[in-house]
Amino acid sequence: MYELLDRETLKTGETLEIGVVTSPEEEYAPGIEELLSHKGEMWRAHIRAALEGRAERLETRFYLGLIEGKPVANIMTVERLGVGILGHVYTRPEQRRKGICHAVMSRQMEHFRQRGGHVLTLGTGFESPPYWIYHGFGFRSLKGGFMRYAVEPDHAFEERWFAPAPAQVKPVAWEHAPLIALIASLPGAEYLRSVAWRYVGIENLERALIEFFARQLAGDPVGGCVLESETGAVAGCATWHPHSLWSDVWLVDSFTHANFTAQTPDLLEGLEVPPGKQIAYLDAQAREKAALYESCGFVREGTLTRFLRADGEPRDVWVYGRER
Ligand SMILES: CC(C)(COP(=O)(O)OP(=O)(O)OC[C@H]1O[C@@H](n2cnc3c(N)ncnc32)[C@H](O)[C@@H]1OP(=O)(O)O)[C@@H](O)C(=O)NCCC(=O)NCCS
Repeated sequence: MYELLDRETLKTGETLEIGVVTSPEEEYAPGIEELLSHKGEMWRAHIRAALEGRAERLETRFYLGLIEGKPVANIMTVERLGVGILGHVYTRPEQRRKGICHAVMSRQMEHFRQRGGHVLTLGTGFESPPYWIYHGFGFRSLKGGFMRYAVEPDHAFEERWFAPAPAQVKPVAWEHAPLIALIASLPGAEYLRSVAWRYVGIENLERALIEFFARQLAGDPVGGCVLESETGAVAGCATWHPHSLWSDVWLVDSFTHANFTAQTPDLLEGLEVPPGKQIAYLDAQAREKAALYESCGFVREGTLTRFLRADGEPRDVWVYGRER
């Protein structure tokens, strides 16, 4: 579906039409796919799925700038319950520096707020030209080029969203991607959070998530589950992947919002890992998490000395295993 949002006269005198495409969509799909054809295959797999209405409940919107009916610029948002990731910001090279990105983003941000959106995150080069475009729209750096925008001041939304509440385990699905990305934008109780996703401290998980879902779509042996709170928040996530070094050994990771650490066992028991040996690497300072792993049958089998560089400080990593 295409919805016209606005028209604007550019510096050049040309008329820019600004509209938003939601899935499923046929008329604008070839133009969007062509505009974003420089993206890698895993990103294009999501774009295709979204345009064909196969991206489950992950709300995917393509905000387009069009000149004479032809898409020349794009900004994509993927959202669930007002929590989103903004990406695929692109203006055709021959159309740049005419104010198109700025015009499309003004309408996109306005639309996000009007729809009751809460928080957006994105990744870009730190202090690059797009970094300053996003900065102008209220995004602020969380870590280098990983940026966040919130409608409400400070972390008012996250405080409500992640308030302690009953939560249940569900299989991970595409719709959870922006919600998982939000937990990763906040510091957790531990520093080492997911080895498979190379996630320590706070991190932009956009690439890790798209890779994970592309692998799931391709039928690779990977899986996961999330802890869904009553507010709709994904308050925790656990995954399993094949260990890169050993056959029939599965790498298990889990992380939660700090208010939901105690529910780590629910996540670990919610994973449907194939038979074999399960290995988990835990930050040696995460004693509560380690005790929760032990309560689920994980046994500490070794220590990797000074493997983790937490803000420059070397730390030990515990290796936990269980056989299932
Ligand atoms: C970044 C990008 C989307 C900007 O698109 P655009 O339509 O040319 O942007 P605008 O014309 O709206 O620029 C708005 C302002 O941003 C700044 N800006 C944009 N491109 C810039 C550049 N290459 N160098 C310095 N400043 C730049 C300028 O201040 C500009 O205003 P001005 O032209 O009046 O000085 C475009 O360059 C692009 O597609 N780049 C490749 C993909 C990319 O890097 N995407 C972002 C990934 S996070």
